[in-house]
Amino acid sequence: MGARISELLSALPREVAERIIMGAKRALVKGDPAMICHYLSMISPTYLGMDLPYVHSGYHKSYPGSRKIPLPPPPQVSGRDAFEVIVSRRSRRKYAPSPLSLAELSALLYYSLGVTGRAWWGGPKRVYPSSGALQPVEGYVVAKRVEGLEPGLYHYNPAEGALEELRKGNFSRQLEEAAIGQEHVGSAPAVIIFTIVYSRTASKYGLRAYKFAHLDAGFAGQNVYLVAEALGLGTTAVGGFYDELVCSLLDIDCEEEMPVLLFPVGRRER
Ligand SMILES: Cc1cc2nc3c(=O)[nH]c(=O)nc-3n(C[C@H](O)[C@H](O)[C@H](O)COP(=O)(O)O)c2cc1C
Repeated sequence: MGARISELLSALPREVAERIIMGAKRALVKGDPAMICHYLSMISPTYLGMDLPYVHSGYHKSYPGSRKIPLPPPPQVSGRDAFEVIVSRRSRRKYAPSPLSLAELSALLYYSLGVTGRAWWGGPKRVYPSSGALQPVEGYVVAKRVEGLEPGLYHYNPAEGALEELRKGNFSRQLEEAAIGQEHVGSAPAVIIFTIVYSRTASKYGLRAYKFAHLDAGFAGQNVYLVAEALGLGTTAVGGFYDELVCSLLDIDCEEEMPVLLFPVGRRER
């Protein structure tokens, strides 16, 4: 074990090895192994991080062979004041049994992950700020009760404003179990799932990317909350889930694409 660790440390650039050792020392002192990740992600005037062997390949996933379900254009205005919506936002975990409309789902997806313009180099820009405009966040939907949408698992294609059908069926219970039995995940008419394609951000930001990619998802996640609030719906961010069960449901490789948040959404129960 000791020999393997020294082999790893000697294969790394000196500054990176030093950061691992510093993190390990602090981990021992504080009783917190996360200090190793923390020190690994830090930069300084004399050390700007380590590049990682990733390439940026595209700004979103697409499933070319899948059936596409075009989403209705999202509403241009919500009728609610932005400041009022920010202040009234809460995590809401009780949902009425009534279905969501496809227009509501379209608004939630577009205003949390949608493409709103072009950068000077031609790449897309999104509703959420993204480190290096590399856009690691992917959106999926587990639909149970959405008008005009068969129950199933879908991927949101932001360039086309469409859902891509991955699998038909009711996956709510499976997702609730993956979310450590949290009932609001199973009871919601739809659950939006955010993942991050880590290589998009890591291709530029190296060891700082694990932090940056999660921050991107947080910015997009606040949009889900605010849009739900503006439309009179309820949602809550759910970060408590068994990662590998969510990856298996989505049929993704948990090292390449990491699930970060689930957002059950539904009408508020009166
Ligand atoms: C990263 C993150 C993970 C969370 N995970 C869960 C969760 O697994 N289950 C849940 O019911 N709420 C979860 N929440 C919601 C918080 O419990 C909630 O935001 C907090 O209690 C503050 O309440 P408020 O959102 O109503 O202001 C999470 C929130 C964040 C930001």
